[in-house]
Amino acid sequence: MPKSNAPIVKAVIPAAGLGTRFLPATKATPKEMLPVVDKPAIQYVVEEAATAGLSDILMITGRNKRPLEDHFDRNYELEEALQRKGDESRLARVQESSDLATMHYVRQGNPKGLGHAVLCAAPHVGDQPFAVLLGDDLIDPRDPLLRRMIEVQEEHGGSVIALMEVDPAQIHLYGCAAVTPTGEDDVVRVAGLVEKPTPDEAPSNLAIIGRYVLNASVFEVLRKTAPGRGGEIQLTDALQILAAEPALGGPVHGVVFKGRRYDTGDRGDYLRAIVRLACEREDLGPDFRAWLRSYVTEEM
Ligand code: G1P
Repeated sequence: MPKSNAPIVKAVIPAAGLGTRFLPATKATPKEMLPVVDKPAIQYVVEEAATAGLSDILMITGRNKRPLEDHFDRNYELEEALQRKGDESRLARVQESSDLATMHYVRQGNPKGLGHAVLCAAPHVGDQPFAVLLGDDLIDPRDPLLRRMIEVQEEHGGSVIALMEVDPAQIHLYGCAAVTPTGEDDVVRVAGLVEKPTPDEAPSNLAIIGRYVLNASVFEVLRKTAPGRGGEIQLTDALQILAAEPALGGPVHGVVFKGRRYDTGDRGDYLRAIVRLACEREDLGPDFRAWLRSYVTEEM
């Protein structure tokens, strides 16, 4: 498989989901816009992409997702009002999200799963490797993952997925990988993948977390991938085909992540993510931690 020397600059962020787990909050607001402390969840993900050098971001959206486009665009009225007041720090906070990357949007008219969402990116991506970031996973900026995945893709070609060890009782919530070691500690070769296996079917406790650096050959495979788990076209199934037949688009490697990951996909995890991130914030953390300590010891 020929390797490309052009740097990877395109990222795809699927954001067409209905967010039903957060109803009624998500009745008229996209789930990606729910705040994690004081920033919408999706902004953390776009910041992570931008920090990894991904300057061209395509969001796969759907109906009722206009606030996403507005959030990453300028808001001149608000900016002028803050300027008139001389509120420079809030002005900078407002402008941050519109300066991160070049944003593009395409609608997934008929949501048929993650694989289908990624396929909607084919015309924009072209034939170069690209990244995919799922909005429910937040990766702590102090533990960079994407940059490492890009490095591994540049070294080996093909595709690279992010893996993390999880409690075997949780593996049914994820895609799961069968792997073999490579010479590098944090890199494995992916031999097979199963989407959301039962404990009996799971080949390991290595879960796919929502970061991918993909060879563009995945589009050709996705076009032929039949609906899988949940009747949806699964990205995991397409990657399984690539892992089994490297001649189609190079090998599939996994980077085993040992850093901090926050899940905002369900209500309990979302609350835990907010508490953890709030505790670590320099501005809010000291007061919030003190309050939390007394709340836990005195009131629980
Ligand atoms: C998706 C993928 C799954 C992966 C997970 C990571 O599932 O299909 O393989 O493990 O993201 O968050 P979802 O959580 O969207 O159902």
